[in-house]
Amino acid sequence: MSVTILKTSPSTNTEAKNPRFRHGDAIVAFEQTEGRGQRGNRWSSRAGENLTFSLVWEPTFLDAPKQFLLSEAVALALCDTLEKYGIAVAIKWPNDIYAGDRKVCGILIEHFISEGRLSRTIVGIGLNVNQTSFEEWIPNPTSMKLLTEREEDIMAVFNTLYGDFDRRYRQLLEGGAERLQQEYRGRLYRLDEAHTYALPDGSRFEGILRGVEPDGGLIVEHGGTLDRYMFKEIEFVIN
Ligand code: BTN
Repeated sequence: MSVTILKTSPSTNTEAKNPRFRHGDAIVAFEQTEGRGQRGNRWSSRAGENLTFSLVWEPTFLDAPKQFLLSEAVALALCDTLEKYGIAVAIKWPNDIYAGDRKVCGILIEHFISEGRLSRTIVGIGLNVNQTSFEEWIPNPTSMKLLTEREEDIMAVFNTLYGDFDRRYRQLLEGGAERLQQEYRGRLYRLDEAHTYALPDGSRFEGILRGVEPDGGLIVEHGGTLDRYMFKEIEFVIN
């Protein structure tokens, strides 16, 4: 397992596609020039102030339909680390990390599948560490420093996270899938609370988040029935 530290990179997720990186390797960049976020968005992070890195996993023991377990392991590892820094966090489905109603970390996971199994998973992490002001277009951001009023050593945060990723991956590898799913559910942002949700057609409704299915589908109760939504089929409305 190796950790490569780059002064600048277009995107560590793109770097991590290079087959020379193998299971457990990580690529950390001081600065990304074309950082990528979810849904085709860009990821903006001020050079040297935050943690931007990608981790390579080769989860060949997992069938492709079970890939959401990896998202759960990643989100829980981030919760483990942030708690060690005294920050209370929740997982905003599918895998943003929130402190209160603000996003402290984004995750971009890319899977590669061979013969129905996962051959390679690139876990891209953008964790806001010491940045205290953000561009206006970024929705409700926060950082570890804004939350704790402490400046952190970015590589020390990385080392803690690297250990927590390894522990959560081994939990999954060693048969802990069900436990992971339970813990993920227990950590969900807005679990069992009534809030407003938006649908792709622009309509809104009041629903209660009840959980997540093994394939990652979100279960929301509305008007006495349980409805299931996949990624991009529902949005949280956050003021
Ligand atoms: C999101 O939109 O919430 C996901 C953000 C993921 C950003 C990280 S930064 C390191 C890695 N490299 C990228 O280009 N993106 C991910």
